[in-house]
Amino acid sequence: MSAAGLLVRDLTREYATRGEPLRVLRGVSFSVEPGRSLAIMGPSGCGKSTLLHIVGTLAAPTSGSVRIAGGDPFVLAESDLARFRNATIGFVFQEHYLLPQCTALENVLIPTLAQRASSAHDAEVRARALLARVGLAERADHFPAELSGGERQRVAIARALINAPTLLLADEPTGNLDEEFASEIAALLIGAARDAGAVLLIVTHSRALAALCDAVCELRRGRLTEPGQRAGA
Ligand SMILES: Nc1ncnc2c1ncn2[C@@H]1O[C@H](COP(=O)(O)OP(=O)(O)OP(=O)(O)O)[C@@H](O)[C@H]1O
Ligand SMILES: [Mg+2]
Repeated sequence: MSAAGLLVRDLTREYATRGEPLRVLRGVSFSVEPGRSLAIMGPSGCGKSTLLHIVGTLAAPTSGSVRIAGGDPFVLAESDLARFRNATIGFVFQEHYLLPQCTALENVLIPTLAQRASSAHDAEVRARALLARVGLAERADHFPAELSGGERQRVAIARALINAPTLLLADEPTGNLDEEFASEIAALLIGAARDAGAVLLIVTHSRALAALCDAVCELRRGRLTEPGQRAGA
């Protein structure tokens, strides 16, 4: 495993309850090389979103380690961590979370606002290129309310890619779309991550979508099956 990808070791996560702590993750380990995609499946409530939140540095593990491009994000102070997250990680959720008062182009540009390194002109050039990549070159000035569900999700994908993330995390990205559009969106996400050399993790309930990824694993009883292996196999 090269230092450039994603390395997760012995991750555990407990939630406090009134009684016994709820042990959601009980020692999750896996690695993904740059440009590769891993689908994570498993029943509702098994901890898929919890895992994605920790890998995305939105929540800390109870124990265990996450290395993104060789670095440990959890040693960073909160403000440095927020900057790191913005620069390094792209998120696509089931809901697109586009700002309704901003156009497609403006929504794609939002993650660049905190990146002082890039000029506004360069950022707009990249945003327009990404909108073209997701087939929305002609819709840059449209507001989310003027776009279809699939088109909004494509804007969200362009937004997730705008800072050239090392890590792309998608939590049921096609959950709200019908099957035809779901596979189209999934293929777009997988292709874009591969072209950008980003690690892609997709949480999905769809076998068809998972089959498009380089590897598939299942979260069961707090542990992850080996990629490509069925649970209990
Ligand atoms: N903040 C929290 N406090 C307490 N329990 C939580 C918290 N967040 C999640 N849980 C519990 O942890 C378990 C895993 O939740 P998680 O959202 O990770 O599941 P999931 O696999 O993403 O499910 P789904 O497929 O329905 O989205 C669930 O039992 C949930 O109730
Ligand atoms: Mg979930």
